[in-house]
Amino acid sequence: MTGMKKALLDAETRRWLADITSGRVRYDEPMSLHTSFRVGGPAEAFVEVKSADELVALVSGLAVKDAPYHVVGGGTNLIVTDAGISGVVICLKPYISDMVIEDVGSSHARVTVSAGTSLPLFCSHAIRNGLKGMNFALGIPGTVGGAIRMNAGTALGWISDVLDSILVLYPSGRLERIGRNSLSFSYRKLTLPQSFGENSFSHETIIVSGRFSLVRENAIDLKQAAGEILRNRKHRQPMSLLSAGCIFKNPSTGKTAGELIDLCGLKGRKIGGAEISIKHANFIVNTGSATAADILALMDSMRQIVDQQFHVNLEPEVIVIGN
Ligand code: EPU
Repeated sequence: MTGMKKALLDAETRRWLADITSGRVRYDEPMSLHTSFRVGGPAEAFVEVKSADELVALVSGLAVKDAPYHVVGGGTNLIVTDAGISGVVICLKPYISDMVIEDVGSSHARVTVSAGTSLPLFCSHAIRNGLKGMNFALGIPGTVGGAIRMNAGTALGWISDVLDSILVLYPSGRLERIGRNSLSFSYRKLTLPQSFGENSFSHETIIVSGRFSLVRENAIDLKQAAGEILRNRKHRQPMSLLSAGCIFKNPSTGKTAGELIDLCGLKGRKIGGAEISIKHANFIVNTGSATAADILALMDSMRQIVDQQFHVNLEPEVIVIGN
């Protein structure tokens, strides 16, 4: 997708951003540096938050100014258009964690993890500490916040299975802990409750941290099982190439998206620098020179061909943002 970038931030907001971030705000930051696909045009403003306090001040200030923002984690399930993003991109990734482990009796533990924490780091930390429950997520890239938002999961389990509660930040600056039972998870999605009085479409509720309930188990056994899961995944998915994981959701019944695309004979099909993986047909890989437009065009052609041959409308799993 091409087009002119719309500037939405006025001079006063830019001064405020410089002030509140101690000069760390960056303008026209290429989002290709912050997405696993390595594509995407510039963010009008880009801030890597350093603490929860900074996040609260930033979000509530932007909401008062009615300036739009987007929150990104690891950028691993994201396509940013080539025209880039207007407004402020808030990146939670470097807002590194605390992973705090508290014992609950002798058999369980409660682990509180900040949203910007890398999911692989959380998985290995859990294993090292003899805590079972996160092995399903091995090999999934991204951040804990992104994984909660997308209800990340595999055949081995879902993040919603081990989540106890989340801490969310509303645009008003209010923080609220929401228990698992009040959250509505569906396939690859968590619907967050909207706060009353937040009237701007561009203002999002943000996941600040997640609290997980894990079970004590022998660390050596967990490590062994983890090795097997990772080997299996490497064998089936193009893990070392630039991608955003599975590109389409699996249809609710019948064949998986990967099977359908494969049966259409599309593996290896290319548009520009974007290629349908020869290892797993539901992955698009950037061979080095892909643009977001190449990837989106390839997705369109996959959807059309699968629809023609199987009358199945594939729904994207990746999130597309930008102008
Ligand atoms: N298959 C093909 N051709 C292919 C790929 C797969 O015929 O090119 C067949 C396989 O042989 C198998 C079936 O499709 O019979 C399912 O394949 P696989 O086990 O690889 O699982 P998947 O349904 O394609 C899902 C998740 C993955 C997750 C795996 C493993 C979705 C959209 N995908 O893939 O998640 O890693 O299960 O549990 O739900 C992701 O979300 O980014 C992702 C990669």
